[in-house]
Amino acid sequence: MRQVIHGLIILLLLSGCDKKPDVSIVPKPASIQISSNYLLLDEPVQILGPDTPTGNRLKGLASQSLTDHGLTTVDYGKKTITMKITSYDTLVPEGFHRIMVDESGVLLESNSEVGLFYALQTLNQLLPSGEGQRKIQGMTIVDYPRFPYRGLHLDVGRHFFPVSFIKQYIDWMAFHKFNYFHWHLTEDQGWRIEIKKYPKLQEVAAFRKETLIGHAGIPEKFDRQPYGGFYTQEEIKEVVQYAAERFVTIIPEIEMPGHSLAALSAYPSLGCTGGPYEVGTKWGVFPDVFCAGKEESFEFLQNVLDEVITLFPGSYIHIGGDECPKSRWKVCPDCQKRIKAVGLKDEHELQSYFIQRIEKYMNSKGRQIIGWDEILEGGLAPNATVMSWRGEAGGIAAAKQNHDVIMTPGDWCYFDHYQDTTANEPLAIGGYTPVRQVYEYEPIPSVLSTDESMHILGAQANLWTEYITTPEHAAYMVYPRACALAEVVWSPKSSRNYPDFLVRMKAHLVRLEKMSIPYASHIQKEMKP
Ligand code: ACM
Ligand code: ZN
Repeated sequence: MRQVIHGLIILLLLSGCDKKPDVSIVPKPASIQISSNYLLLDEPVQILGPDTPTGNRLKGLASQSLTDHGLTTVDYGKKTITMKITSYDTLVPEGFHRIMVDESGVLLESNSEVGLFYALQTLNQLLPSGEGQRKIQGMTIVDYPRFPYRGLHLDVGRHFFPVSFIKQYIDWMAFHKFNYFHWHLTEDQGWRIEIKKYPKLQEVAAFRKETLIGHAGIPEKFDRQPYGGFYTQEEIKEVVQYAAERFVTIIPEIEMPGHSLAALSAYPSLGCTGGPYEVGTKWGVFPDVFCAGKEESFEFLQNVLDEVITLFPGSYIHIGGDECPKSRWKVCPDCQKRIKAVGLKDEHELQSYFIQRIEKYMNSKGRQIIGWDEILEGGLAPNATVMSWRGEAGGIAAAKQNHDVIMTPGDWCYFDHYQDTTANEPLAIGGYTPVRQVYEYEPIPSVLSTDESMHILGAQANLWTEYITTPEHAAYMVYPRACALAEVVWSPKSSRNYPDFLVRMKAHLVRLEKMSIPYASHIQKEMKP
């Protein structure tokens, strides 16, 4: 009888262990199998891995991770953390990996270095934090991303963010297994990338004389403080390299034909009216855009892009394309001449001509363009990828035309929206996108067929910074909403479960704190004590 009771207790303990394993990984892995053993971290650990430059870097990351958790490493030890490149099926998705934890250590396996990198991000979350918890539950994790495109965007045009913050932003992305950083580098209110052929972009376009205070009131109030900055090409190379080491690809955005007032202020002959223009000091959409009639506009942009592609090795270049008013083009002799000469129907087709011409140039350099969903108007450039921001309609239309799509619809993916309804939130542009809404986003619209849905590469959140002036505020807007989006783009659709996410986020918020991410804490109101 005693033996039966003993057996029952063990069974209860085991089943309890199965139901509530102490595993709170964000984004949630595809599969976790809990075993009954565990790894006791009661002695220094030996780290083993591929003897390649990246392998050595990964070993360094593992070692750092252990040190950060108060654990020590040793050259020869009984317990090991082993990273291994395996030769299994090359058809598995990017980043596929396996993690096995048992009494002897942790084995991280993948057929790629990026897979090992993601395995290490998970290991970092498995390592015990705090005194008296020096063990890891035995388990096997098999994991891989649901989508190949997992992105975050940052607008550095409205407000400029230092290289040190861009690197943090990338670190935090990598920790959440994001793989694309969309760097919005040019805007009406500031041009932020050094272009050596055009020094006035640095001298004129990178600075504005003042900035509107708050939302536009009547009368408008300005701060009378000159504001600006730009990244040198050396800084950009440094950031690109930093991101590559974390398996993050940077997509630079050079806006055209709209949102180009800063560039026009430096080179007024590129506008329809010839100026003079002034770098934007308030927000919104401005009528002055690159003239689509003058050859000079294309020469300028091609020269700019020539320098851009030497800095960014990734295949995608974002060329904007959004919010381009046609009022100047309608009355510009050069634009009208172009419409007639090419046989275009209207100014929408002129925008399409503009984008297609730039696409052709980029394709000739071996690059692919991404544009906001307005590039559908007047005819889509043949190879363009569409970023759907005005809802999902643009993305759906593009996928139906067999174009690749990145979903970033405002209602779910605009992190410049409010995340809470309390009165003491910092001023935001508007909207309301709490973390739950982000979590519940489904990037594949149900109207798409299986074949069409293959064109949905993934999703991205955007952070526009009209009302965000500091790194702390930017981080507050992005976290923890980015944790929710990470799960949308990484984890299997079938595992999406908000109450379960809340439980895991309890442990995850402690990690964000340890990383000094000044996240928004509203989510705690939803958590069980
Ligand atoms: C956008 O939000 N204008 C793409
Ligand atoms: Zn014109």
